Amino acid sequence: CGIVGYIGERQAQPILVEGLRKLEYRGYDSAGICVFDGTALRVRKTAGRLSALEEKLAAAPLPGTLGIGHTRWATHGRPTNENAHPHTDAEGRFAVVHNGIIENFQALRERLVAKGYRFVSETDTETIAHLLADLYDGDFVGTVRRAVAEMKGAYALAIVCRDEPDKLVVVRQASPLVIGVGKGEQFVASDIPALLEHTRDVYILENGEMAVLTKDGVTITKTDGTPVARDVFRVTWDLAQAEKEGYAHFMLKEIHEQPKAIRDTLSGRLEGNRVVFPDLKLSPTELAAVEKIHIVACGTAYHAGLVGKAAIERLARVPVDVEVASEYRYRDPLLTEKTLVIVISQSGETADTLAALRESQRRGAKVLGIVNVVGSSVAREADDVLFTWAGPEIAVASTKAYTAQLVVLYLFALYLAELRGTLSEAERAGLVAALQALPEQTEAVLGLAETMKGHAESVASATSLFFIGRGLDYAVAQEGSLKLKEISYIHSEAYAAGELKHGTLALIEDGVPVVALATQPNLLDKMVSNITEVKARGARVIALAMTGEAELAKTVDDLILLPPTDPLLAPVLAVVPLQLFAYHAAVARGLDVDKPRNLAKSVTVE
Ligand code: G6P
Repeated sequence: CGIVGYIGERQAQPILVEGLRKLEYRGYDSAGICVFDGTALRVRKTAGRLSALEEKLAAAPLPGTLGIGHTRWATHGRPTNENAHPHTDAEGRFAVVHNGIIENFQALRERLVAKGYRFVSETDTETIAHLLADLYDGDFVGTVRRAVAEMKGAYALAIVCRDEPDKLVVVRQASPLVIGVGKGEQFVASDIPALLEHTRDVYILENGEMAVLTKDGVTITKTDGTPVARDVFRVTWDLAQAEKEGYAHFMLKEIHEQPKAIRDTLSGRLEGNRVVFPDLKLSPTELAAVEKIHIVACGTAYHAGLVGKAAIERLARVPVDVEVASEYRYRDPLLTEKTLVIVISQSGETADTLAALRESQRRGAKVLGIVNVVGSSVAREADDVLFTWAGPEIAVASTKAYTAQLVVLYLFALYLAELRGTLSEAERAGLVAALQALPEQTEAVLGLAETMKGHAESVASATSLFFIGRGLDYAVAQEGSLKLKEISYIHSEAYAAGELKHGTLALIEDGVPVVALATQPNLLDKMVSNITEVKARGARVIALAMTGEAELAKTVDDLILLPPTDPLLAPVLAVVPLQLFAYHAAVARGLDVDKPRNLAKSVTVE
């Protein structure tokens, strides 16, 4: 989502709308603004793109010089008019826009409902408006402070209050927020691009801080009121750089957003050692009765499915087939009402995936979607949906959507395992702890960027590359190989390492680069033999492993070590260096990383 705000002497509406346009890349399934007209807070909002809001505003403009706005990428609640931001309390005293997730909103909402507050939307944001109304004691800023003290989660807020229209209050708790400093006016936005037209002088809020904006100045404090001294930051980026938050490409930005994507996707889904899916409609009885699972998807989402198969079979002991959607839809699949079909899709619009979903439903199976875009076709048509909360993905080559898909699949496997009693309490606790460690470990793996850049530059002029691995590493090898070929145009192939000797070994000659994945301790010895086979034919081997340094170091040319995790979760950490490798290879070859030739982000034709 993206948020904007304005306080000053000019008309707020055009400034807010223009700011939202610059933030549209952050999400775009509904939009809205609120402006104070001298007596009341007036709201216009609507589902759909920003242009739909502009039409409404053209018909009925909102005059006034104080306002907030929002462009939404739905998480809690579908993209509807009611769920669009801003949200207000029943008396219209407060209006709120919000980016992020309020984790304890359900509990807060229940408390407020019990006190008689009536909710008109399904969002966690509306809870904030009612909470403010409930705590209000005549002091706007103090009320915000007390409300924030009750809210858990990662979020950014902009709030206006009818009774104190000389103020705009903003709060940052782990979601980005920047304040633009003007003369006799101040601006706020989720991101720098929305401010650049007006000012290059900004304050960047840190987590746990809030600010009170008046037209003449900005006061920053911690949310508990402790004063904060912050220097103005002078932005030297142009607009295109600013949209990528200073990263050279969206793909690189999205690779770096993976710790957050993983954290957000886990958020609200773990209670102690148990997985909870508050939104799942399929009942525990229905799920426990499932006899087999088909996972159907395309491209990177299909590769996530391969890992999902291993996780579900290993933990929940249900047989799983994984297939690309374009094959599945035409092959007369064998389905019964005890088959669960899981379709995985970032966009939720891929034509083949959607056709496979419809075909499965027609044959009587229940379909569970794992989708990143709320309100997309798959999200609407599947019987049930588990969302990945990766946020909008812009680069054609999928990165953070893949890791978020893996996380949902692990959670689902654990959930199913509990229903079926196939996993001990201790095993479950171990995996949950390992899942919770992933965001930080992924952050650590991002530290390999320079190393991977070096490796990428060394293969940039190669004509062909091989990715090899066994078990889960073979699944990751396929994703690593796809990443490389789709953006660097270097031919590459992924091979199950044990299968090399049945053909591919003939292609290994002096200097051919081989990326060997060896993260699975139980297969390490076998991998060492396979690596020796390619080394003996002259291959240059870059290996990725978690353990076994001693043996591997002797065999390979370069060894990259990942932080230790449960082997089942290793794909999340192993894929990150491969994404960086592909990225830097494409950059080294001077290619259009975010928009590779012949490919599209969302393939809506067969
Ligand atoms: C296209 C994209 C891929 C993506 C695939 C499936 O080929 O370029 O990055 O993995 O479609 O897309 P979906 O939106 O269904 O995950």
